Amino acid sequence: MFEKPVDDETALKLLERHHGEDLFRLVDANRKRLRPWMGWVETTREPADSDAFIRDALKGFAEGTCIHFGIWHRGKLAGVVGPHTIQAMNESAEIGYWIGREAEGHGILTRSCIAVIDYLVDIRGLNRIEARCAVSNHRSRRVMERLGMQHEGTLCQSVKLPHGFEDTRVYAVLAAEWRERRKRD
Ligand SMILES: CC(C)(COP(=O)(O)OP(=O)(O)OC[C@H]1O[C@@H](n2cnc3c(N)ncnc32)[C@H](O)[C@@H]1OP(=O)(O)O)[C@@H](O)C(=O)NCCC(=O)NCCS
Repeated sequence: MFEKPVDDETALKLLERHHGEDLFRLVDANRKRLRPWMGWVETTREPADSDAFIRDALKGFAEGTCIHFGIWHRGKLAGVVGPHTIQAMNESAEIGYWIGREAEGHGILTRSCIAVIDYLVDIRGLNRIEARCAVSNHRSRRVMERLGMQHEGTLCQSVKLPHGFEDTRVYAVLAAEWRERRKRD
């Protein structure tokens, strides 16, 4: 089992098959909040769908193309974070994340992202960590800004959400910038 501590009450664990029921319950309880931003919510209708997601995620982990961590807070699955895309050739990754309502608004997600980026930069040796969000997703924008990621540009109508096409903001931090920032923390 792959586990990385975040704080005294929170740890990241690689999502495994036996987490499928917990993952489905969390998605199901947060459907309304996630639907505006995460297209896969519509196709997650039963526990088997979460199990299939974890199977694909583990295949990607074995191939080195993605890592999906569960965020465990006070012993309960609270959200998911990690690079859904790793490009070994470019030494870069794009991270994604979501967290359930109970754990939202306490900095848990930002601390979890810091642990993920530390791992990608220090252990995996990646040079560029990217994240994207719809322009109107202000909570997600605040996470990227709290992480010290730079807004590099905007992709016009690049995502189709339930409310229509939206522009996407691209944020990134380079390994050297991240190390500098972590020295100052
Ligand atoms: C986007 C999302 C992940 C942000 O989660 P979050 O809990 O707000 O993020 P953080 O962990 O950074 O918490 C920030 C909040 O905790 C507060 N906080 C408390 N202690 C904190 C600490 N030590 N460090 C940082 N923030 C802290 C901040 O002030 C902020 O408060 P606010 O809600 O009043 O702005 C969440 O809203 C979500 O899952 N949304 C739906 C899915 C989604 O949009 N995913 C992203 C797609 S791009």
